Amino acid sequence: MSDQLIKVPADWAKSAYVDDAKYTEMYEQSIKDPVGFWAEHGKRVDWIKPYTKVKDVSYNQRDLHIRWFEDGTLNACYNCVDRHVKDKGDEVAIIWEGDDPSVDQTITYTQLHHHVQRFANVLKDQGVKKGDRVTIYMPMIPEAAYAMLACARIGAVHSVVFGGFSPDALAGRIQDCDSRFVITSDEGVRGGRPIPLKENTDDALDSCPDVESVIVVEHTGGAVTMKEGRDVWYHEVAGRVDHECPCEEMNAEDPLFILYTSGSTGKPKGVLHTTGGYLVYASMTHQYVFDYKPGDIYWCTADVGWVTGHSYILYGPLANGATTLMFEGVPTYPDSSRCWQVCDKHNVNIFYTAPTAIRALMREGDEPVKKTSRKSLRLLGSVGEPINPEAWLWYHKVVGDERCPIVDTWWQTETGGILISPLPGATDLKPGSATRPFFGVEPVLVDNDGHPLHGATSGNLCIADSWPGQMRTVYGDHKRFFETYFSQFKGKYFSGDGCRRDEDGYYWITGRVDDVLNVSGHRMGTAEIESALVAHEKVAEAAVVGYPHDIKGQGIYAYVTLKQGQDPSDDLKKELVQWVRKEIGPIASPDLLQWAPGLPKTRSGKIMRRILRKIAEDDFSNLGDTSTLADPGVVDDLIDNRQNLG
Ligand code: PRX
Repeated sequence: MSDQLIKVPADWAKSAYVDDAKYTEMYEQSIKDPVGFWAEHGKRVDWIKPYTKVKDVSYNQRDLHIRWFEDGTLNACYNCVDRHVKDKGDEVAIIWEGDDPSVDQTITYTQLHHHVQRFANVLKDQGVKKGDRVTIYMPMIPEAAYAMLACARIGAVHSVVFGGFSPDALAGRIQDCDSRFVITSDEGVRGGRPIPLKENTDDALDSCPDVESVIVVEHTGGAVTMKEGRDVWYHEVAGRVDHECPCEEMNAEDPLFILYTSGSTGKPKGVLHTTGGYLVYASMTHQYVFDYKPGDIYWCTADVGWVTGHSYILYGPLANGATTLMFEGVPTYPDSSRCWQVCDKHNVNIFYTAPTAIRALMREGDEPVKKTSRKSLRLLGSVGEPINPEAWLWYHKVVGDERCPIVDTWWQTETGGILISPLPGATDLKPGSATRPFFGVEPVLVDNDGHPLHGATSGNLCIADSWPGQMRTVYGDHKRFFETYFSQFKGKYFSGDGCRRDEDGYYWITGRVDDVLNVSGHRMGTAEIESALVAHEKVAEAAVVGYPHDIKGQGIYAYVTLKQGQDPSDDLKKELVQWVRKEIGPIASPDLLQWAPGLPKTRSGKIMRRILRKIAEDDFSNLGDTSTLADPGVVDDLIDNRQNLG
């Protein structure tokens, strides 16, 4: 925590869309009269048939529904592409920077319009219809953006699966939404290393017999096998389809995309976002939080496989007619100056990344940053996990030369867009705090019984009312939607995060209060990793918790009980770590794995994770009451084993 206050620079207060007085005025209006506020701001997107109803929301169990602009019709792709062609056709929509620093590409709005229409016709040629789910498993190449926008254009629902997920994880996501179409690439490349996306897809599809068509975009030219009657090369089909494709008229509440995310229990949930409210919210937050002005070059380093890539590489910026940079590589390749070299090469004005990247680069020292100019940078952003004040201050001082405000943006896959963040011309900054709510967002902190807490306090972070970018359901499981977000604290959306509010009304996110981990800004359910571990033939039981990790924020700590007769060994440890990589993907690999002859359980059989967390943190002083354990002796064994682990 830091007491420092970094004032809004005078030039920012003058030039930004919103200064402090304007923020207060707009915020108050948005809370007092949400319908009036959003009726006005909903007009920022082009509607085919304008809405007359703005909001219809109920968080009640019997009747849970969230509808915004429900009688309006529009097309998201039209708003991101076609409407800019007339006045900005020659302006750059996407700058693509390859993994190899000598490779890049610019795509103007006119060119984007051509590419997206052709891609949309390829989808139609393959039999994709309005409402069909299309799984996209792609590297960070422009075709990933074309594919997403092409789906939106014809009313298909995309489900992007991060390219780092394993074949099993991909298969689960294809099956869950009954997706019969997959778009992939021969290979991806990151940090000079190929990623076998088509081969992974082939493995996944062994358990997805309903997939009819796989469209393969050639990227590296690496060898792949094509299955006759199922797989087609994008360029071959593209060569024979028409180049014009009209936009489908969609209702505001028609689904735009599904994105899977981890929860505290069960398998990943398909978070469903719809068209109108999502686009209004993504574009509005992009404009105000980043103070995006025409001509700015904007770079968000996320992958399109995560919600940050959906809202702040693609939909938000393109709806605003912005120039958005898409980066295929990693911040440390060829060396740890890469981000700043890219900023200098493309004159990036706004740079948005995750604390884990900042901490990793900070460890390399100031020199890789200082040898670049970074003169073009105006604003820096952070997202995905709490940023520690030390990393914040380094980002501010070394990267931003103390000239660039930092927007620490708090939000979630479920929220569609940023909910708590400074506005750079309005909000004095405190390193480590996401500061104040965006328009229309009313945070409420509640105790474990759901009582609202007032003033400077800490509690469970809820949001009092709906905002247009909110998710609408868990795909195929509306009951789970209610149970996950609305059952714990009646009448409010519960985020799953803990939070502190200080004397100035600033919010400080303290991290998840449920069994969800945040590893390098990626969300991982402990239950998912546990079920991967127990799927191994030698494992009887597993419990996974998070522990503080210098770079990743949280590391993955696994306690494993072997089946009778199995001997623990270092080789078996390595095998289990590899096993989890194969089952879920490299991002889920346990950082530390400890053998546990027994797990601390209550007499009713519930694992006491609180104790496991403490032991993982190497803090044995305050284990709390262990008298309710069925066998208190297991705790001593675990402590002994922990100490041997170092
Ligand atoms: O715990 C919060 C953390 O990331 C979670 C959401 O993860 P995901 O749905 O993958 O979306 C990440 C990108 C929006 C939250 O519940 N989180 C996100 N942003 C912040 C954050 N924690 C602290 N500060 C943030 N700025």
